[in-house]
Amino acid sequence: MAILITGGAGYIGSHTAVELLEAGYEIVIVDNFSNSHPEAIKRIGEITNKPFIFYELDLMDQERLEEVFARHSIEAVIHFAGLKAVGESVQLPLKYYHTNIYSTLVLCEIMKKYEVFKLVFSSSATVYGCPETVPITEDSSLGASNPYGRTKQMIEEILQDMALSDPQWGISILRYFNPIGAHKSGRIGENPSGIPNNLMPYISQVAVGKLERLNVFGCDYPTVDGTGVRDYIHVVDLAQGHIKALERIMQRKGVDVYNLGTGKGLSVLEMISTFESASGRRIPYAFAERRSGDIAVCYADTLKANRELNWSADRGIMEMCEDTWRWQCANPNGYSEIELEKAN
Ligand code: NAD
Ligand code: WQD
Repeated sequence: MAILITGGAGYIGSHTAVELLEAGYEIVIVDNFSNSHPEAIKRIGEITNKPFIFYELDLMDQERLEEVFARHSIEAVIHFAGLKAVGESVQLPLKYYHTNIYSTLVLCEIMKKYEVFKLVFSSSATVYGCPETVPITEDSSLGASNPYGRTKQMIEEILQDMALSDPQWGISILRYFNPIGAHKSGRIGENPSGIPNNLMPYISQVAVGKLERLNVFGCDYPTVDGTGVRDYIHVVDLAQGHIKALERIMQRKGVDVYNLGTGKGLSVLEMISTFESASGRRIPYAFAERRSGDIAVCYADTLKANRELNWSADRGIMEMCEDTWRWQCANPNGYSEIELEKAN
C-alpha cells in the first residue's frame, strides 16, 4: 500500500516525501513540474537512499492520473499540487480557479472510483483573511481576500460537502502558516522562480548577493516594531505534521481542520536580525509602502494540532534561518543551476 503525493517535487511536498520515506512509507509522487524541477525528485532519492515511484503528469489529465490508481495500491493521498502565488492569482484568477479547483475535483473523483477515502489537503492560513484576534483558532471566521486564498476556502468547502455525502471519507485539512527553512542536508529547499515574493527567500537572496536589498513593506503596523508579524514554521516540522495527520485519518473518518504553525509571531525586523546572526551576513534593507492585501499580525493557535495530532513544531527560528542559509549557499540559483551546468 502506498501514499500518493501530488505536487511532491515542490517545496513542501519534497520535504514531506523525504520524511515519509524515512518513516518507512511506500510513496508514489506525481508532479507536472509547473513550479518545480526534476532535480528535486532525484535528490529525494539521494537523501533517503530509498526507492519510490514518480510520474510526470498534470492532475487535470484524468486518464493518466487514473492509470496511477489502477497500477498502484494507493492507501491515502497527500494533495499539495496547485498554484500558490497570491499576486499572480489576482492577475490570473481563472487560471487559479481552474487549476486548483478542477485538479482537486479530478483527484477526488478518481479517489472515489478506486475507493481511496483518505486525504490530507494543503490549505493555508490565508483562508482566515484579516483575523479579528490572534492567536487564530481553527473556528475563527474565514474570509480569504484574494483568488488564491479563495481557491483554498472553496476546496475546503468541497471536501466538507463530499465527506457529508459519504461517511467513508477521512480528511485532514491542514492550514499552514508561513513555511520556511530547508532540509538539513542543504540538498532540497524552496526554489522560487524569478524574484521571490515571500520574505525568507528574498532575505536569503539578499544575503547571498543575488538581490541588492530587502524592501520592508510597512513600518507603521501596530506591532512590536511597526513591521508585519507572522508565524514562521520549519518546513520539516510541517512535513512531520503531515505524517501525524495521515496517522489520524488511518484511524478516523470525517473531516478535521488543523492549524500548522508554531504559535509564535515574529516581525520582519526580527527575521532580518536572526538571519544576519545565522548567516554572518548583513542584510541591507529599506522601509517601503505597505504591500496591498497584507495584514499586521498573523499567528496560529496550535492547541488542536498539539492535542489531537500529538504534534508540535519544535524547530526554532535560528534553526530555520541556518537551514535556509545552508540551502541557499549550496544552491545559489536553486535547482536551475543544474540546467546551466548541463548546457555548458
Ligand atoms: P510548490 O509550488 O513548491 O509545490 C506545488 C507543486 O505542485 C509544484 O511542484 C508544481 O509543479 C505542482 N503542480 C502544480 N499544479 C499541478 C498540476 N496541475 N498537476 C501536477 N502538479 C502540479 O508549493 P509549496 O510551497 O510546496 O506548496 C504546496 C501546497 O501548500 C500548495 O497547495 C500551496 O498552496 C500550499 N501552501 C503553501 C504555503 C507556502 O507558503 N509555501 C503556505 C500555505 C499553503
Ligand atoms: C511575510 C512578511 C510582508 C516580502 C504568503 C501568502 C500566504 C501563504 C504564505 C500560501 C509580511 C513582509 C515580505 C518582502 C517584506 N502562502 N515582506 N518584504 O504574506 O504572510 O503569506 O505566504 O498559502 O497565502 O500570502 O508571507 O513571506 O510574503 O510575507 O517586508 O519582500 O514579510 O509584508 O509582513 P505572507 P510573506
